Amino acid sequence: MADVLGRPEAEGFIGVFDSGVGGVSVLQHLVRELPGEDFRYFGDSAHAPYGGKTPAEVCEFSRSIAERMLSEGAKALVIACNTATSAAAPTLRAAYPDVPIVGVEPALKPAVLAGGTGDVLVMATEVTLALDKFHRLEDQWAHGASVQTVACSGLVDLIEQGDLDAPELVELIDRLVGHLRGEVDRVVLGCTHYPFVRAQIAHVLGDVRFFDGGEGTARQLHRLLASEGLLCEGHEGIVTFDSSIDTPEECALYQRFFALPC
Ligand code: DGL
Repeated sequence: MADVLGRPEAEGFIGVFDSGVGGVSVLQHLVRELPGEDFRYFGDSAHAPYGGKTPAEVCEFSRSIAERMLSEGAKALVIACNTATSAAAPTLRAAYPDVPIVGVEPALKPAVLAGGTGDVLVMATEVTLALDKFHRLEDQWAHGASVQTVACSGLVDLIEQGDLDAPELVELIDRLVGHLRGEVDRVVLGCTHYPFVRAQIAHVLGDVRFFDGGEGTARQLHRLLASEGLLCEGHEGIVTFDSSIDTPEECALYQRFFALPC
């Protein structure tokens, strides 16, 4: 059987999701790494931010998105959200053992390995920093470096509003991490929304190097699809957007962020 484009249905699409627009920063890496794949992006903006919810709530949102995407023909899933990866990846992998499922985690390892003269700052949501996954990452990689963590409450809400030039954004970042200017020289963007405000963070913190998990996630998906014989190559993939806030404005926001450098 073939779909309307004449491709075998078994090829399927790759389902990518986040609490909102943030995972679009990961989607950019995925499309660069795998230009022949079809991607369907889902932003759960109706429930954003995930960072202030309980892990059980985030797990349930993620489970229901995954279930729907798989019933619609996804051949693989990317949890383009640090918070949902921490809260739900083991549950999803146990529920769908035959489906490649890739998550994203704060890029602490490359930040520590890069070396430097100052501290490493990890900016992430409350849930990401509170759950075991991050503590294990710290136990494994933080020694040899001084690591500071800041739960950036409120930042996702402002980014979701879509106005990246709003003065409130820099003001909030300044309140959250401004006291660390001069102390940190590496910043781990441990939430997929934050790459969109890299310039605003640099404005507050000065000369720092940034690390995020998007590129590693894309490489990991490539490896998994190749090892499962699921790669789709030889044509240009299609990218579509959908949201739990079902308005043309919301999908237009995702498209606009998809075109932004991050
Ligand atoms: N973009 C997400 C993350 O990477 C979720 C942020 C949120 O909704 O609080 O953690």
